[in-house]
Amino acid sequence: MRQEVASVTANAELMPQVHLMWLESSQIASPAQPGQFVMVRCGEDFEYPLRRPFSIHQQDGSKLALLFNMVGRGTHWLSQCQAGDELDLLGPLGNGFSIHPGSHNLLLVAGGIGIAPLVFLAQQALSQGQAVTLLLGASTAPQLYPEHLLPPEVKLVTATEDGTAGKKGMITDLLPDFTGWADQIFACGPISMYQTMTKQNFVTTKPVQVSLEVRMGCGLGVCYGCTVKTKSGLKQVCQDGPIFDLDDILWEELANGGV
Ligand SMILES: Cc1cc2nc3c(=O)[nH]c(=O)nc-3n(C[C@H](O)[C@H](O)[C@H](O)COP(=O)(O)OP(=O)(O)OC[C@H]3O[C@@H](n4cnc5c(N)ncnc54)[C@H](O)[C@@H]3O)c2cc1C
Ligand code: FES
Repeated sequence: MRQEVASVTANAELMPQVHLMWLESSQIASPAQPGQFVMVRCGEDFEYPLRRPFSIHQQDGSKLALLFNMVGRGTHWLSQCQAGDELDLLGPLGNGFSIHPGSHNLLLVAGGIGIAPLVFLAQQALSQGQAVTLLLGASTAPQLYPEHLLPPEVKLVTATEDGTAGKKGMITDLLPDFTGWADQIFACGPISMYQTMTKQNFVTTKPVQVSLEVRMGCGLGVCYGCTVKTKSGLKQVCQDGPIFDLDDILWEELANGGV
C-alpha cells in the first residue's frame, strides 16, 4: 500500500451523475489488481477528513481510472476536478478478485455502478485467455455503461428496470440462463442484488465472489468501522475484503445494520 499524489488527466460525466476519471498514478496503478480499491482524499485542506473508497475501474500502465456516482459532498467535489489537478490517494487496498486456475468461462454481474471493478477484471481475464460474459443491469438505458468502453471480446447482455434497453427487469432475472456456462461468477451491485442471488439455486453449485460496499472510516484496518459478520466470524471489509464469497456473508444481519 502506498500514498501518492496523483494527477488527474481526464474527468468527464459518462452517464447521468456518473463520472469517469483518469489519473496518472505510477506508484499505485501498476501493482493494482482487479477488485482492489483506493482511498481518495476529497476536498481542500481536510474539508472532509475521511477519505472515500473507490474501486479501481481500469488500469493502463501508470494510469488508473475511477468510475464514480455523485451521491454526496465528496463525490460532488471529485466531479469538479479537472485535468492537472492533484489528488491524494492511498492504495491499492483490499484483497481483489481471485480467478481459479481451472476456470475458463467467467460470468460477471453488474448492478448499476457495480460495473466499476468489473471492467478491470474483464480485461485481466481476457488477457489470460478466459471467456467473459457480462450481465449489465441499470434502472434505465442512459444509466447503462457504454458498450464501446468494454473490451470487444466481452459478450454483453443487458437489462433495464424500465425496459428501455435489453431485457425488462432485474439483471438477476437473467442469471439462471448463464450460470450453467460459468465456471465462476463475480458480482458487484447493491446489497439487495446479493440477497436475491443468495436465493437462486446456482449458489450451491457455482463459486460466487462479490464486492462488498460499506461505509469506511480509514480503509486501513484501524477504525473497525467496516466490520461485518460472516460465517467465519467478524471480518473487516477494508482488509479481509472487499471481495468475499457470496455464501460467507450473513446478508440478513448486514441489511439490518450490520454489527
Ligand atoms: C470498497 C468500496 C469500493 C467502492 N467503489 C466505488 C466505485 O467504484 N464507484 C462509486 O461510485 N462508489 C464506490 N463506493 C462507494 C463510495 O465510496 C461512496 O459513494 C462515497 O464514499 C460517497 O462519498 P460522498 O462524500 O459523495 O457521500 P456522503 O456525503 O458521505 O454520503 C452520501 C450518500 O452516500 C452513501 N454512502 C457513503 N459512503 C458509502 C459507501 N462506502 N458505500 C455505500 N454508500 C455510501 C451515504 O449513505 C449517503 O446516502 C465504494 C465503496 C467501497 C467501500
Ligand atoms: S475502514 Fe477502518 S477498519 Fe476498515
